[in-house]
Amino acid sequence: MQGKRILLVIGGGIAAYKSLLLIRLLRAAGAAVTPVLTRAGAEFVTPLSVSALAGEKVYTDLFDLTDEAEMGHIQLSRVADLIVVAPATADLLAKMAQGRADDLASTLLLATDTAVLAAPAMNVRMWSHAATQRNLAQLRLDGVQFVGPDEGEMACGEFGPGRLAEPEAIFAAISRLLDAGPLTGRHILVTSGPTHEPIDPVRYIANRSSGAQGTAIAAALRDLGAAVTFVTGPALVPAPEGVRVVRVETAREMLAAVEAALPADAAVMAAAVADWRVANASGSKMKKDGTGKAPALEFSENPDILASISKGDTRPALVVGFAAETDQVEAHAAAKRLRKGCDWIVANDVSPSTGIMGGAENAVVLISDAGSEAWPRMSKDAVARRLAERIAAALSS
Ligand code: C5P
Repeated sequence: MQGKRILLVIGGGIAAYKSLLLIRLLRAAGAAVTPVLTRAGAEFVTPLSVSALAGEKVYTDLFDLTDEAEMGHIQLSRVADLIVVAPATADLLAKMAQGRADDLASTLLLATDTAVLAAPAMNVRMWSHAATQRNLAQLRLDGVQFVGPDEGEMACGEFGPGRLAEPEAIFAAISRLLDAGPLTGRHILVTSGPTHEPIDPVRYIANRSSGAQGTAIAAALRDLGAAVTFVTGPALVPAPEGVRVVRVETAREMLAAVEAALPADAAVMAAAVADWRVANASGSKMKKDGTGKAPALEFSENPDILASISKGDTRPALVVGFAAETDQVEAHAAAKRLRKGCDWIVANDVSPSTGIMGGAENAVVLISDAGSEAWPRMSKDAVARRLAERIAAALSS
């Protein structure tokens, strides 16, 4: 980040204030920021606050002759190491997708030969509208990278995807694009989410895993530069950007996807894989037969993906398993590490009283050859970052 220059295009939206925080983060990390404020953006944050925080002139209008004399708009679009659009409104994304150039921001985006990162922010219906989704698909094909949007309550009172990513997340995406991290050149496999084991074509057996911890780990490894293959069951949280996503439903599909993704330098198996599948699953929807007799499900054991990878021929140098326990967490997890043959086990207590399963926080114990280490309760994102750093250290030693 040190010595890099970011051209930051601030579009018009309630979330524009977050771009001020982003400027502070970038400058604190040693980057220079050239701010460009769209006319709509200037309705939400003032040119004065933007330029004061950036410590530089803010560019606002295409036809400012003084600006053109000092630095033409073509040149302005080329001096940066990265162009960041935050917030990227539906209108700005539409202009970018169509290649329109009717103001300074859109002209710069059309004239540039620099990588572009966009952080969308808009009302949830505008985000899910077919036109916006078409524009996004086009922009991805054009090589534009995205961070967010987040899901949650919006300023307009509605709920869903469309919130601008937090400044820290945009900052992390920027540093990922600019910096080579300690895991650059490494391939890491991450499994996440629950599995669904069919009973019949419409019913299945599942578990309460949201996929939040596995998703955070994939994102943290990506942020350190790793090429991540993310094999996920049907999770509640969306898969991270910037990783290769392989979607599966059953444990057997997950095993096949994991084997296909090898070789890898490390594997982090955070998925909550069903131990059993229904052996007598029906090919057609099961019906009540009027006798009051309930059908009997028979089970057979699923393959243990972690054990099979740990003991396989193409074993990654570092294999990390998870252990979700409700009692004697450490003892059960330590036994599991030996039984499954993995290097580390990340153990956590998923008793309902902890609120960990499906929640935003986690309290884990990392168990390795060296013994066990209890980490304080922290956000799943923080657990993920700490684990990613440990993995980077282990792979480089
Ligand atoms: O035995 P248990 O399910 O508690 O072990 C948890 C660990 O084993 C997790 O890392 C999980 O991803 C993995 N696992 C697996 N295949 C299974 C069951 C669990 O890979 N069939």
